[in-house]
Amino acid sequence: MVTIAVTAEPENEPRVAVSPDTVKKLVASGCKVKIEAGAGLRSRCSDEAYTAQGAEIAASGADALKGADILLRVRRPSNEDIAQLAPGAVVVAMLDPFGDRSELEALAATKATAFSMEFMPRTTRAQSMDVLSSQANLAGYKAVVDGAAEFGAAVPMMMTPAGTVPAAKAFIMGVGVAGLQAIATARRLGAIVTATDVRPDTKEQVQSLGAKFVAVENEEFEQAQTAGGYAKEMSAEYKAQQAELVAKHVGGQDIVITTALIPGRPAPTLITAEMVAAMKPGSVIVDLAAERGGNCELTKPGETIITDNGVKIVGTENYAATVPVNASALYARNLLSFLDLMIDKKEGKLEIDWEDDLIQGTLIAKDGALVHPNFTKQAA
Ligand code: NAI
Repeated sequence: MVTIAVTAEPENEPRVAVSPDTVKKLVASGCKVKIEAGAGLRSRCSDEAYTAQGAEIAASGADALKGADILLRVRRPSNEDIAQLAPGAVVVAMLDPFGDRSELEALAATKATAFSMEFMPRTTRAQSMDVLSSQANLAGYKAVVDGAAEFGAAVPMMMTPAGTVPAAKAFIMGVGVAGLQAIATARRLGAIVTATDVRPDTKEQVQSLGAKFVAVENEEFEQAQTAGGYAKEMSAEYKAQQAELVAKHVGGQDIVITTALIPGRPAPTLITAEMVAAMKPGSVIVDLAAERGGNCELTKPGETIITDNGVKIVGTENYAATVPVNASALYARNLLSFLDLMIDKKEGKLEIDWEDDLIQGTLIAKDGALVHPNFTKQAA
């Protein structure tokens, strides 16, 4: 029988790696699921809800990990977890592969087989396991809702006998998964929406959602997408042209949502202090890239600030975690789909297909070493 452990997350992480729904499915496929007491509470998953679906509740993380073949987490395992991991145990989590390297090395040293869900290839087959998408989608939604709340004025146009309330203008910078959901949400609220990105494919996507596309559309823009569908670092010249365009545009906006990221690099600065100074009092920037340094020069990660000219800048980190109920439910489903690749239900044992591209793409540590090409390349 495959034994799966779920341990409690740190204080700043309200999400949890399994839901009652996924526990039910794991138990039905012959697994034993042991969950540290209270691990799901902040995502509204009580111990009772888990036990009702066949999980066992363990008094501590160490108890949950006794005899475990697999550890499921949202964040990296804690030091206590690492101390309890059996050699060869499988760890599946968002391991923040570009973050602090020494912690990853400590995890690798346990000889764990560790998978980092952020590295899931962006292929059709992997869609149900794509944690970046499931979480970014919720983040994009919530950023607009928070932006509207912080704006403090109405978003939709309202024609009333007492006069007309104008529609708010929302500008979405970065049109990946979060940005697309932000556009859709802002449109649903009735905002006049514009959006920008450096990848040419996004133009049509923006227009199909009823928003207007604003970007420097030169030759470099036409090539600004990697084979994996991600943005490239743009040239200094492009950035200067982009900055000029953005400077003109943001001054007239009420709510600006920034989501621009480049994998493995700090977030690009898209809004400078000077541009913020030209914005209207009461306007709001929600910087979804805050955790990776921010797209706005003035963003303070983890804080909401008000500038001298009355612009609010929301730097909340880990945005998906501000809707933990949904974020956990979707993340848990992502993990369930992934586990399907490594559990032989008939035999009731772990059976990892090392040739599978999704296994290869996400595997970061095995037999005591960091093995992902991203690390081996960097080391070279
Ligand atoms: P991301 O979170 O890495 O970045 C967000 C957005 O910021 C991207 O659209 C990027 O082009 C943009 N950006 C980067 N630098 C910028 C700059 N200087 N100015 C303006 N915008 C900038 O992206 P995410 O959400 O992870 O999506 C990346 C791609 O993967 C997209 O094409 C998405 O449609 C695709 N995708 C494919 C999936 C599949 O086929 N299974 C699943 C999910 C996403």
